[in-house]
Amino acid sequence: MDGNGRWAQQRGLPRLAGHEQGSKSIRQCVEACMESGVEFLTLYAFSSENWKRPELEVRGLMLLLERFLNEKVEEMLKEGVRLRAIGRLDDLPNACRKKLDEVIAATAGNSRLHVILALSYSGRGEIEDAVRSIARDAASGSLAPADITPDLISSRLYTAGIPDPDLLIRTSGEMRISNFLLWQLSYTEIHVTKKLWPDFTKSDFADALAEFAVRHRRFGGV
Ligand code: FPP
Repeated sequence: MDGNGRWAQQRGLPRLAGHEQGSKSIRQCVEACMESGVEFLTLYAFSSENWKRPELEVRGLMLLLERFLNEKVEEMLKEGVRLRAIGRLDDLPNACRKKLDEVIAATAGNSRLHVILALSYSGRGEIEDAVRSIARDAASGSLAPADITPDLISSRLYTAGIPDPDLLIRTSGEMRISNFLLWQLSYTEIHVTKKLWPDFTKSDFADALAEFAVRHRRFGGV
C-alpha cells in the first residue's frame, strides 16, 4: 500500500495522516473484492523493514492497526469477511497482537472474502522460517530430502492453504517486489499504477481487474 508518505507530503501533512487516509482505501478494495467475487485479498500493511522507521511513525501505525481492528470487526462479521495475518506476528506490540488474535478468532467461520494482513512480513523471512522448519524435520529423520517438493515448501509458508495470488497491484508507480510473497508471486500478473495508495479507489481496483481479465497467462507454456 505504497505512497502514503508522498500523499501526506504533497499536502504538507505528517506522514501518519497519509497512513490514516490509506487505511480508508482498504475499505474501497474490500468492497470491490466483494462486488467482483474476489475471495482472497492480501494487504502489505507493515514489512519487517518498516521497524526501521522513526519510532513515532511505527507507534502511530500500530495504533492505527489496533483502531482499524476495533472499528471493523462488526462489519467483517456482518459481511462474511475472514481476517487472517501473515508475518512474524510475535514482533507486534502486545495490545496489537491480542486484538489481532481476537478478530482472527471471531471471524474464523467466515469465508466470503479472506482479508490477509501482512504484518512484520518479509518474503525472505518467510522462506527462512519455512526452511528452518523443514531442516528441523529432516534433522529429526521425519522428512527425507526426496520429500521436499514445491507443495511441501508451500505448506510450510505463512500462506499455507492460501492460493498463490493471481494479481499484484503496486501503487505509486513502484516497479519492484519489495520482499513481498517472493515464493508465491512466481506467475502472478503485475499491475502498476501511478496512483498513490490513499487515492486508490474502488474504480481503480475495477480497472486493475479489467486489465487482468484480458491478460493471456501461459504459466511458462505456449
Ligand atoms: C507504505 O507507504 C505504507 C506503509 C508502510 C503502511 C501501510 C499502512 C496502512 C495503509 C494503514 C495501516 C494498516 C492497517 C491494516 C489499518 P510509505 O509510507 O512507504 O509511502 P511513501 O513511499 O510515499 O513514503
